[in-house]
Amino acid sequence: MKTNQFGENGWTPNRIGNLNSKIYLITGTTSGTGFEAAKILLSKGANVVMLNRNIKKAENTINTLQQELGNSINVTNIQMDLSKQSSVKKAAEEVLNTVTQIDALICNAAIAQVPKQILTEDGWESQMGTNYYGNWTLQALLFPLIEKSKGRIVTVGSMGYDMGLKTIKFDDLNWDKDYTPNDAYSQSKLAQIMSIYELQDRLKAAEKSTVKAYACHPGSSKTNLINTSGSFMMKLIFNIMKIFPIVQSAEKGAYPQLMCATEPNLDQSGFYGPTGNRNWVGPVGAHHIEPHAKDKSVSKRLWEVSEKETGVVWNL
Ligand SMILES: NC(=O)c1ccc[n+]([C@@H]2O[C@H](COP(=O)([O-])OP(=O)(O)OC[C@H]3O[C@@H](n4cnc5c(N)ncnc54)[C@H](OP(=O)(O)O)[C@@H]3O)[C@@H](O)[C@H]2O)c1
Repeated sequence: MKTNQFGENGWTPNRIGNLNSKIYLITGTTSGTGFEAAKILLSKGANVVMLNRNIKKAENTINTLQQELGNSINVTNIQMDLSKQSSVKKAAEEVLNTVTQIDALICNAAIAQVPKQILTEDGWESQMGTNYYGNWTLQALLFPLIEKSKGRIVTVGSMGYDMGLKTIKFDDLNWDKDYTPNDAYSQSKLAQIMSIYELQDRLKAAEKSTVKAYACHPGSSKTNLINTSGSFMMKLIFNIMKIFPIVQSAEKGAYPQLMCATEPNLDQSGFYGPTGNRNWVGPVGAHHIEPHAKDKSVSKRLWEVSEKETGVVWNL
Protein backbone atom coordinates (compact mmCIF):
# COMPACT_ATOMS: atom_id res chain seq x y z
CA MET A 1 0.00 0.00 0.00
CA LYS A 2 1.23 3.51 -0.85
CA THR A 3 2.32 5.44 2.24
CA ASN A 4 0.32 8.53 3.17
CA GLN A 5 2.28 11.71 2.40
CA PHE A 6 0.96 13.22 5.65
CA GLY A 7 2.05 10.34 7.90
CA GLU A 8 0.14 7.39 9.30
CA ASN A 9 -2.68 9.54 10.75
CA GLY A 10 -3.15 11.23 7.39
CA TRP A 11 -4.02 14.88 6.83
CA THR A 12 -5.62 16.67 9.77
CA PRO A 13 -6.54 20.34 10.35
CA ASN A 14 -3.49 20.63 12.63
CA ARG A 15 -1.66 21.38 9.39
CA ILE A 16 -3.68 24.56 8.83
CA GLY A 17 -1.92 27.74 9.96
CA ASN A 18 -3.41 31.14 10.67
CA LEU A 19 -6.06 32.01 8.04
CA ASN A 20 -6.64 35.65 9.06
CA SER A 21 -6.20 37.07 5.58
CA LYS A 22 -8.16 34.34 3.78
CA ILE A 23 -11.73 34.24 2.47
CA TYR A 24 -13.46 30.91 1.82
CA LEU A 25 -16.81 30.35 0.16
CA ILE A 26 -18.57 27.16 1.08
CA THR A 27 -21.92 25.79 -0.01
CA GLY A 28 -24.27 23.83 2.26
CA THR A 29 -23.09 24.63 5.79
CA THR A 30 -26.34 24.08 7.69
CA SER A 31 -25.30 20.53 8.54
CA GLY A 32 -22.82 17.74 7.93
CA THR A 33 -19.36 18.18 6.48
CA GLY A 34 -20.06 21.76 5.33
CA PHE A 35 -20.87 22.86 8.87
CA GLU A 36 -17.75 21.19 10.24
CA ALA A 37 -15.55 22.64 7.50
CA ALA A 38 -16.90 26.16 8.10
CA LYS A 39 -16.31 25.77 11.84
CA ILE A 40 -12.70 24.67 11.43
CA LEU A 41 -11.92 27.45 8.91
CA LEU A 42 -13.45 30.04 11.26
CA SER A 43 -11.54 28.62 14.23
CA LYS A 44 -8.33 29.30 12.28
CA GLY A 45 -9.30 32.95 11.76
CA ALA A 46 -10.65 32.77 8.19
CA ASN A 47 -13.50 34.83 6.81
CA VAL A 48 -16.22 32.41 5.69
CA VAL A 49 -19.02 33.21 3.27
CA MET A 50 -21.64 30.48 3.41
CA LEU A 51 -24.03 29.81 0.55
CA ASN A 52 -27.23 28.17 1.77
CA ARG A 53 -30.75 27.82 0.43
CA ASN A 54 -32.61 28.17 3.72
CA ILE A 55 -32.14 31.58 5.34
CA LYS A 56 -33.59 30.56 8.71
CA LYS A 57 -31.29 27.53 8.94
CA ALA A 58 -28.33 29.70 7.90
CA GLU A 59 -29.13 32.17 10.70
CA ASN A 60 -29.31 29.32 13.19
CA THR A 61 -25.97 28.03 11.87
CA ILE A 62 -24.35 31.43 12.41
CA ASN A 63 -25.78 31.55 15.95
CA THR A 64 -24.43 28.08 16.72
CA LEU A 65 -21.00 28.96 15.33
CA GLN A 66 -20.93 32.16 17.38
CA GLN A 67 -21.90 30.26 20.53
CA GLU A 68 -19.11 27.77 19.91
CA LEU A 69 -16.37 30.11 18.64
CA GLY A 70 -17.35 33.57 19.95
CA ASN A 71 -18.99 36.62 18.40
CA SER A 72 -15.85 37.92 16.72
CA ILE A 73 -15.88 35.27 13.96
CA ASN A 74 -16.17 36.52 10.39
CA VAL A 75 -19.12 34.66 8.92
CA THR A 76 -21.95 35.68 6.61
CA ASN A 77 -24.54 33.91 4.48
CA ILE A 78 -25.65 34.52 0.94
CA GLN A 79 -28.90 32.83 -0.04
CA MET A 80 -28.51 30.33 -2.88
CA ASP A 81 -30.58 27.37 -4.00
CA LEU A 82 -28.20 25.21 -5.99
CA SER A 83 -31.10 23.47 -7.74
CA LYS A 84 -32.20 26.71 -9.44
CA GLN A 85 -30.01 28.37 -12.04
CA SER A 86 -31.71 31.74 -11.40
CA SER A 87 -30.81 31.53 -7.71
CA VAL A 88 -27.22 30.45 -8.41
CA LYS A 89 -26.78 33.36 -10.83
CA LYS A 90 -28.24 35.85 -8.31
CA ALA A 91 -26.00 34.52 -5.54
CA ALA A 92 -22.92 34.66 -7.78
CA GLU A 93 -23.73 38.28 -8.61
CA GLU A 94 -24.02 39.09 -4.91
CA VAL A 95 -20.69 37.40 -4.24
CA LEU A 96 -18.99 39.37 -7.03
CA ASN A 97 -20.47 42.62 -5.65
CA THR A 98 -19.63 42.05 -2.00
CA VAL A 99 -16.67 39.67 -1.66
CA THR A 100 -13.17 40.95 -2.40
CA GLN A 101 -11.31 37.67 -2.88
CA ILE A 102 -11.93 33.93 -2.99
CA ASP A 103 -9.09 31.80 -1.68
CA ALA A 104 -11.22 28.72 -2.25
CA LEU A 105 -14.74 27.99 -3.40
CA ILE A 106 -15.71 24.75 -1.68
CA CYS A 107 -18.59 23.07 -3.52
CA ASN A 108 -19.94 20.92 -0.72
CA ALA A 109 -23.75 21.09 -0.92
CA ALA A 110 -25.65 18.22 -2.53
CA ILE A 111 -28.72 16.06 -2.41
CA ALA A 112 -28.63 12.27 -2.65
CA GLN A 113 -30.66 9.16 -3.36
CA VAL A 114 -33.81 11.02 -4.43
CA PRO A 115 -36.41 8.19 -4.60
CA LYS A 116 -38.15 9.28 -7.82
CA GLN A 117 -37.22 11.10 -10.98
CA ILE A 118 -38.02 14.77 -10.30
CA LEU A 119 -37.14 17.56 -12.71
CA THR A 120 -35.77 20.90 -11.52
CA GLU A 121 -37.41 24.12 -12.72
CA ASP A 122 -34.66 24.25 -15.37
CA GLY A 123 -35.76 20.83 -16.63
CA TRP A 124 -32.99 18.55 -15.34
CA GLU A 125 -33.14 15.42 -13.19
CA SER A 126 -32.90 16.80 -9.64
CA GLN A 127 -29.52 15.34 -8.61
CA MET A 128 -27.85 16.24 -11.91
CA GLY A 129 -29.48 19.69 -11.81
CA THR A 130 -28.46 20.41 -8.21
CA ASN A 131 -25.17 18.60 -7.72
CA TYR A 132 -23.76 19.09 -11.20
CA TYR A 133 -25.31 21.94 -13.20
CA GLY A 134 -25.74 24.08 -10.07
CA ASN A 135 -22.03 23.80 -9.34
CA TRP A 136 -21.10 24.23 -12.98
CA THR A 137 -22.76 27.63 -13.10
CA LEU A 138 -21.54 28.73 -9.67
CA GLN A 139 -17.93 27.84 -10.49
CA ALA A 140 -17.99 29.40 -13.94
CA LEU A 141 -19.53 32.68 -12.76
CA LEU A 142 -17.14 33.02 -9.81
CA PHE A 143 -14.11 32.00 -11.86
CA PRO A 144 -12.99 35.59 -12.68
CA LEU A 145 -12.73 36.45 -8.96
CA ILE A 146 -11.11 33.10 -8.15
CA GLU A 147 -8.57 33.79 -10.90
CA LYS A 148 -7.91 37.31 -9.59
CA SER A 149 -7.37 35.79 -6.13
CA LYS A 150 -5.13 32.96 -7.42
CA GLY A 151 -7.64 30.77 -5.60
CA ARG A 152 -8.92 27.23 -5.73
CA ILE A 153 -12.05 25.34 -6.65
CA VAL A 154 -12.76 22.33 -4.48
CA THR A 155 -15.41 19.82 -5.48
CA VAL A 156 -16.81 17.42 -2.93
CA GLY A 157 -17.55 14.26 -4.86
CA SER A 158 -18.36 10.79 -3.63
CA MET A 159 -17.14 7.22 -3.92
CA GLY A 160 -20.47 6.88 -5.72
CA TYR A 161 -18.51 8.00 -8.81
CA ASP A 162 -17.51 4.33 -9.01
CA MET A 163 -21.04 2.96 -8.71
CA GLY A 164 -23.94 2.97 -11.15
CA LEU A 165 -23.12 3.28 -14.84
CA LYS A 166 -19.56 4.62 -14.30
CA THR A 167 -20.02 6.94 -17.25
CA ILE A 168 -22.33 9.73 -18.37
CA LYS A 169 -25.63 8.67 -19.91
CA PHE A 170 -25.50 11.24 -22.69
CA ASP A 171 -28.47 9.77 -24.57
CA ASP A 172 -30.75 10.04 -21.51
CA LEU A 173 -29.29 12.60 -19.11
CA ASN A 174 -32.61 13.00 -17.28
CA TRP A 175 -33.08 9.28 -16.68
CA ASP A 176 -36.44 9.14 -18.48
CA LYS A 177 -35.64 5.44 -18.78
CA ASP A 178 -34.43 3.17 -15.96
CA TYR A 179 -34.26 5.81 -13.20
CA THR A 180 -32.78 4.54 -9.97
CA PRO A 181 -31.86 6.85 -7.06
CA ASN A 182 -28.34 5.49 -6.77
CA ASP A 183 -27.51 5.49 -10.49
CA ALA A 184 -28.69 9.08 -10.89
CA TYR A 185 -26.83 10.25 -7.75
CA SER A 186 -23.67 8.41 -8.78
CA GLN A 187 -23.74 9.98 -12.22
CA SER A 188 -24.13 13.47 -10.76
CA LYS A 189 -21.10 12.94 -8.49
CA LEU A 190 -19.06 11.40 -11.32
CA ALA A 191 -19.91 14.44 -13.48
CA GLN A 192 -18.74 16.76 -10.69
CA ILE A 193 -15.39 14.96 -10.43
CA MET A 194 -14.86 14.61 -14.20
CA SER A 195 -15.45 18.31 -14.74
CA ILE A 196 -12.68 19.13 -12.23
CA TYR A 197 -10.07 17.07 -14.10
CA GLU A 198 -11.32 18.52 -17.40
CA LEU A 199 -11.07 22.02 -15.90
CA GLN A 200 -7.45 21.34 -14.92
CA ASP A 201 -6.62 20.53 -18.56
CA ARG A 202 -8.42 23.63 -19.79
CA LEU A 203 -6.70 25.87 -17.23
CA LYS A 204 -3.36 24.53 -18.39
CA ALA A 205 -4.20 25.07 -22.05
CA ALA A 206 -5.36 28.63 -21.30
CA GLU A 207 -2.20 29.29 -19.26
CA LYS A 208 -4.33 30.02 -16.21
CA SER A 209 -2.68 27.52 -13.92
CA THR A 210 -2.62 29.98 -11.02
CA VAL A 211 -6.11 28.66 -10.32
CA LYS A 212 -6.08 25.18 -8.79
CA ALA A 213 -8.95 22.69 -8.97
CA TYR A 214 -9.33 19.69 -6.68
CA ALA A 215 -11.62 16.68 -6.37
CA CYS A 216 -12.21 15.00 -3.02
CA HIS A 217 -14.89 13.12 -1.08
CA PRO A 218 -15.83 12.60 2.59
CA GLY A 219 -15.96 8.82 2.62
CA SER A 220 -18.94 7.63 4.60
CA SER A 221 -19.83 10.24 7.20
CA LYS A 222 -22.58 10.74 9.78
CA THR A 223 -24.50 13.63 8.25
CA ASN A 224 -28.05 14.52 7.20
CA LEU A 225 -27.49 13.60 3.55
CA ILE A 226 -29.76 10.56 3.30
CA ASN A 227 -32.22 11.93 5.86
CA THR A 228 -32.81 15.06 3.73
CA SER A 229 -33.60 13.50 0.37
CA GLY A 230 -33.42 9.68 0.56
CA SER A 231 -36.25 7.14 0.65
CA PHE A 232 -37.49 5.55 3.89
CA MET A 233 -35.52 2.39 3.08
CA MET A 234 -32.26 4.26 2.36
CA LYS A 235 -32.66 6.20 5.62
CA LEU A 236 -33.12 2.94 7.49
CA ILE A 237 -30.08 1.33 5.86
CA PHE A 238 -27.81 4.35 6.41
CA ASN A 239 -28.92 4.80 10.00
CA ILE A 240 -28.10 1.14 10.72
CA MET A 241 -24.71 1.54 8.96
CA LYS A 242 -23.94 4.48 11.27
CA ILE A 243 -23.76 2.09 14.22
CA PHE A 244 -20.75 0.30 12.69
CA PRO A 245 -17.18 1.58 12.28
CA ILE A 246 -17.71 1.85 8.51
CA VAL A 247 -19.11 5.35 9.02
CA GLN A 248 -17.06 8.17 10.50
CA SER A 249 -17.89 11.53 12.09
CA ALA A 250 -19.00 14.50 9.99
CA GLU A 251 -15.92 16.34 11.27
CA LYS A 252 -13.57 13.74 9.78
CA GLY A 253 -15.64 13.85 6.61
CA ALA A 254 -14.78 17.54 6.36
CA TYR A 255 -11.01 16.96 6.34
CA PRO A 256 -10.60 16.18 2.61
CA GLN A 257 -12.30 19.39 1.51
CA LEU A 258 -10.33 21.39 4.09
CA MET A 259 -7.11 19.82 2.86
CA CYS A 260 -7.91 20.67 -0.75
CA ALA A 261 -8.80 24.24 0.21
CA THR A 262 -5.74 24.98 2.34
CA GLU A 263 -2.83 22.56 1.90
CA PRO A 264 0.02 24.19 -0.06
CA ASN A 265 1.46 22.41 -3.10
CA LEU A 266 -1.18 19.69 -3.25
CA ASP A 267 -1.04 17.65 -6.45
CA GLN A 268 -4.19 18.40 -8.48
CA SER A 269 -4.17 15.07 -10.26
CA GLY A 270 -4.95 13.28 -6.99
CA PHE A 271 -8.30 12.18 -5.62
CA TYR A 272 -8.54 12.90 -1.90
CA GLY A 273 -10.49 11.19 0.84
CA PRO A 274 -10.23 8.58 3.58
CA THR A 275 -7.65 5.92 2.77
CA GLY A 276 -8.94 3.12 5.05
CA ASN A 277 -11.65 0.46 4.56
CA ARG A 278 -13.21 0.94 1.06
CA ASN A 279 -12.16 4.62 1.25
CA TRP A 280 -15.15 5.13 3.54
CA VAL A 281 -13.13 5.82 6.71
CA GLY A 282 -9.57 6.25 7.85
CA PRO A 283 -6.59 8.59 7.50
CA VAL A 284 -7.10 11.26 4.86
CA GLY A 285 -4.86 11.45 1.83
CA ALA A 286 -4.62 10.77 -1.90
CA HIS A 287 -5.94 7.44 -3.10
CA HIS A 288 -6.58 5.50 -6.27
CA ILE A 289 -9.17 6.80 -8.73
CA GLU A 290 -10.59 4.53 -11.42
CA PRO A 291 -9.67 5.50 -15.00
CA HIS A 292 -13.30 6.10 -16.07
CA ALA A 293 -13.31 9.30 -13.94
CA LYS A 294 -10.58 10.72 -16.16
CA ASP A 295 -11.86 9.44 -19.51
CA LYS A 296 -10.94 12.37 -21.73
CA SER A 297 -13.50 11.74 -24.48
CA VAL A 298 -16.32 11.65 -21.91
CA SER A 299 -15.14 14.67 -19.90
CA LYS A 300 -14.69 16.78 -23.05
CA ARG A 301 -18.17 15.89 -24.23
CA LEU A 302 -19.60 16.55 -20.77
CA TRP A 303 -18.03 20.02 -20.77
CA GLU A 304 -19.56 20.82 -24.16
CA VAL A 305 -22.97 19.45 -23.12
CA SER A 306 -22.84 21.52 -19.90
CA GLU A 307 -22.16 24.74 -21.80
CA LYS A 308 -25.07 23.98 -24.08
CA GLU A 309 -27.50 22.91 -21.35
CA THR A 310 -26.81 25.86 -19.02
CA GLY A 311 -25.85 28.50 -21.55
CA VAL A 312 -23.01 29.35 -19.14
CA VAL A 313 -19.55 29.42 -20.69
CA TRP A 314 -16.29 29.65 -18.72
CA ASN A 315 -14.08 32.65 -19.43
CA LEU A 316 -10.96 30.57 -20.14
N1 LIG B 1 -22.27 11.80 4.18
C1 LIG B 1 -21.70 10.92 3.39
O1 LIG B 1 -21.48 9.76 3.76
C2 LIG B 1 -21.32 11.32 2.00
C3 LIG B 1 -20.77 10.33 1.15
C4 LIG B 1 -20.34 10.71 -0.11
C5 LIG B 1 -20.43 12.03 -0.50
N2 LIG B 1 -20.99 12.97 0.33
C6 LIG B 1 -21.02 14.35 -0.14
O2 LIG B 1 -20.66 15.22 0.91
C7 LIG B 1 -21.23 16.51 0.68
C8 LIG B 1 -21.85 17.06 1.95
O3 LIG B 1 -22.97 16.30 2.29
P1 LIG B 1 -23.31 15.87 3.80
O4 LIG B 1 -23.10 14.42 3.85
O5 LIG B 1 -22.65 16.76 4.76
O6 LIG B 1 -24.89 16.09 3.78
P2 LIG B 1 -25.87 17.07 4.59
O7 LIG B 1 -25.64 16.96 6.06
O8 LIG B 1 -27.23 16.74 4.08
O9 LIG B 1 -25.45 18.51 4.10
C9 LIG B 1 -25.77 18.94 2.80
C10 LIG B 1 -25.82 20.45 2.76
O10 LIG B 1 -26.18 20.81 1.42
C11 LIG B 1 -27.28 21.70 1.48
N3 LIG B 1 -28.11 21.64 0.29
C12 LIG B 1 -28.84 20.61 -0.18
N4 LIG B 1 -29.51 20.98 -1.29
C13 LIG B 1 -29.20 22.27 -1.52
C14 LIG B 1 -29.60 23.22 -2.49
N5 LIG B 1 -30.48 22.92 -3.45
N6 LIG B 1 -29.09 24.47 -2.42
C15 LIG B 1 -28.22 24.80 -1.44
N7 LIG B 1 -27.82 23.96 -0.47
C16 LIG B 1 -28.32 22.71 -0.51
C17 LIG B 1 -28.05 21.29 2.73
O11 LIG B 1 -28.90 22.35 3.11
P3 LIG B 1 -30.33 22.14 3.83
O12 LIG B 1 -30.05 22.16 5.29
O13 LIG B 1 -31.12 23.33 3.38
O14 LIG B 1 -30.90 20.82 3.38
C18 LIG B 1 -26.89 21.05 3.69
O15 LIG B 1 -26.42 22.26 4.21
C19 LIG B 1 -22.20 16.32 -0.51
O16 LIG B 1 -21.58 16.80 -1.68
C20 LIG B 1 -22.39 14.81 -0.59
O17 LIG B 1 -22.70 14.37 -1.89
C21 LIG B 1 -21.43 12.63 1.56
